[in-house]
Amino acid sequence: MLHNPSEKNKLFIGLMSGTSLDGVDVVLVEFNKQQPRLLSSYCHPFPKLLKQNLLETIHVNWTGSLQDIGILNQQLGELFADASLTFIQQENIDKNLISAIGSHGQTLWHQPEGDYPFSMQLGDASLIAEKTGITTIADFRSRDISAGGQGAPLAPAFHHEFLSDSNKNRAILNIGGIANITHLPKSDSGKTIIGFDTGPGNGLIDAWIASNSNNTYDKNGDWGRSGNVLPEILEILLRDSYFALLPPKSTGKEAFNLDWLKQMLGDKLQNNNPEDIQATLTELTAISIANSIEVDCDELFICGGGIHNTYLVKRIQHHLANIKITSTEDLGIHPDWMEAMAFAWLAKQTLEGQTSNLPEVTGAKGERILGAIHKA
Ligand SMILES: Nc1ncnc2c1ncn2[C@@H]1O[C@H](COP(=O)(O)OP(=O)(O)OP(=O)(O)O)[C@@H](O)[C@H]1O
Ligand SMILES: [Mg+2]
Repeated sequence: MLHNPSEKNKLFIGLMSGTSLDGVDVVLVEFNKQQPRLLSSYCHPFPKLLKQNLLETIHVNWTGSLQDIGILNQQLGELFADASLTFIQQENIDKNLISAIGSHGQTLWHQPEGDYPFSMQLGDASLIAEKTGITTIADFRSRDISAGGQGAPLAPAFHHEFLSDSNKNRAILNIGGIANITHLPKSDSGKTIIGFDTGPGNGLIDAWIASNSNNTYDKNGDWGRSGNVLPEILEILLRDSYFALLPPKSTGKEAFNLDWLKQMLGDKLQNNNPEDIQATLTELTAISIANSIEVDCDELFICGGGIHNTYLVKRIQHHLANIKITSTEDLGIHPDWMEAMAFAWLAKQTLEGQTSNLPEVTGAKGERILGAIHKA
């Protein structure tokens, strides 16, 4: 792919590896028009062993050492650098035209509350800058947390910048491992933007099918669709205090996972048909999302891998019968690449010395320039 050199400072790479550990999303985005333009995209495979190591590290019974964390940080840095270089080579991109890479990193632990709040993403950005020769910006969440915020979600700022409609109350729903919602009020509503994690996205659905079969995800939601929702189990799961918390709030895989399910359900987990549990987990996800949608919402646009779980989307629509639900594709942003595109934009903001957190979303004391710059 050839680009005019005058486009320098407008081309950014976004790197996103979410809680699902399904792959590293890489995008090339151009920012010289009103709307960001996705020039190309690629999903780099996530090595099985690395995925296994990460899952073990966040497990309650983990007995590893600091050295293990250091090594993981390097392995992930290498993975992100390789993902970028493979993409650049495949797409025949001139590296010199890329202003920066925005790398989310792999979340190991997200703990935005308490005396020592933090959000830890691994994937050494120095190594990415060194191996690619491209300025790399990472660690976007820490500064917002230092300013008293949740450090998450960050994508609402990107949604706010490009996807608002002055005449409609719009909501953008990202269904990744965790699901997050952004409410973009119309201009005369007198309301401010709201954004928060609603709870599990595909995370529990993936974890349950993986522990019952060789599948890593429930393709099209077919397994869940084949089961029956168990009302008693659903009620127990909905009791988790996270669902009743008011925003700002954020959560992660360290909260909603297989251990959580075992803890909440005890023997009930094994004493029911596994497909009925899957239907119930899908229903839990759909209800917690639906409960997070404002009553005056006009239209809801979905992105993230969960849009491909047609059973989940059907259940969300069931609980929100009066709201028009479609894909973010209708807004010109492909649903599979929204998050990675957001990190390309976050990198641009940092490089240009612009703020990119929304205090009304994260709860931070004020707007801040996010991220750490690792020069090429
Ligand atoms: N055809 C499909 N049918 C059902 N589910 C799918 C399908 N394709 C993808 N998914 C789901 O989407 C998930 C990946 O989604 P995505 O990449 O948006 O999440 P993520 O990497 O966790 O990102 P993040 O949490 O940061 O938003 C998979 O783990 C799977 O559960
Ligand atoms: Mg993903």
